[in-house]
Amino acid sequence: MQAIVLVGGEGTRLRPLTDTVPKPALPLVDRPFLAYMIEWLGEHGVTEAVLACGFLPDQLREALGDGEHAGVALTYVVEPDRRGTAGAIRFAAEALGERLEDRFLALNGDVLTDLDLTALQRSHAERGARATLGLYAVEDSAAFGLVDCDAAGAVLAFTEKTGRAEPGAINAGAYVLERSVLDLIPAGRQVSIETEVFPRLVGDGLCALPLDGYWMDIGTPERYLQATWDILEGRVATAVLPTAPGLFVVAGGAVAESARIGPRAVVSAGCSVGSGAEVAGSVLLADCEVGEGARVHDSVLGAGTVVAAGAEVRGAIVGAHERVGAKR
Ligand code: GTP
Repeated sequence: MQAIVLVGGEGTRLRPLTDTVPKPALPLVDRPFLAYMIEWLGEHGVTEAVLACGFLPDQLREALGDGEHAGVALTYVVEPDRRGTAGAIRFAAEALGERLEDRFLALNGDVLTDLDLTALQRSHAERGARATLGLYAVEDSAAFGLVDCDAAGAVLAFTEKTGRAEPGAINAGAYVLERSVLDLIPAGRQVSIETEVFPRLVGDGLCALPLDGYWMDIGTPERYLQATWDILEGRVATAVLPTAPGLFVVAGGAVAESARIGPRAVVSAGCSVGSGAEVAGSVLLADCEVGEGARVHDSVLGAGTVVAAGAEVRGAIVGAHERVGAKR
């Protein structure tokens, strides 16, 4: 099975972290975010992941490398300009040409999940669908559009974000598509699969299947941090080995004995934390320096950030190689 993975977005909600690193290449605990996705795809029969890149493609390639990851062959396709979620699928499909299989998966590349893609593929085949969407049930759907289905799983309608904290089934960003769906995507311009393609397939072979498991779109700072704790506290199946529940500390020797790390923290390779400093509810990406007595709470520090002795960082996203000084 082939999977086209959309990894070309600008990740504006995670700026400034995503100024220099595309969202799918951002480290999440101990590996680039996209690595989790490829590992998950490999567990569900995917043998080739086609990475549909746009924004900062070289950084993405550097993070995952050429060849394969977890037994899944990696193919990179780079769009010359922004195509949107459907336009990117069409562009990648054209780049593959005859190599594209008649049925393939398409996925948003910014979701941490262990949903059952095998069940999604089975359901698609059994119903003879043209497209099948994976659905995820949430208690609070305020930030998402909803998908309504009949009892047999045919999609009836899409509802825009209501802004209300109601339970509902949302589009999980994981699709099985027949090649014929590509005919509905106009060439050479930005096209959204959610608003321009799927609505046209309602009543014409569009199905959906609710899936159980873990699902988190890591596109905002709060959700990036929540996904980190969910990995480190075992709420999602991954291959990560936490140092302790909620903790992942690589930089053993460079953390002063009197520093307080946690509850909940990631201290990546090359970081140092000075004596009396605190790091709590926070992620330090590689090579950060937290000075003596400094406090870092509920924040993400980009690689190479320096927090001066005695300085305080709270609820912040700090871009790579920034310097945070102490108040005078
Ligand atoms: P925000 O700017 O914070 O909304 O993030 P984003 O740019 O990633 O947009 P969004 O979360 O809506 O995108 C969902 C998924 O589609 C992400 O995995 C994006 O990388 C991807 N994506 C969005 N637009 C494009 C595009 O034009 N081309 C490609 N290849 N992928 C895209």
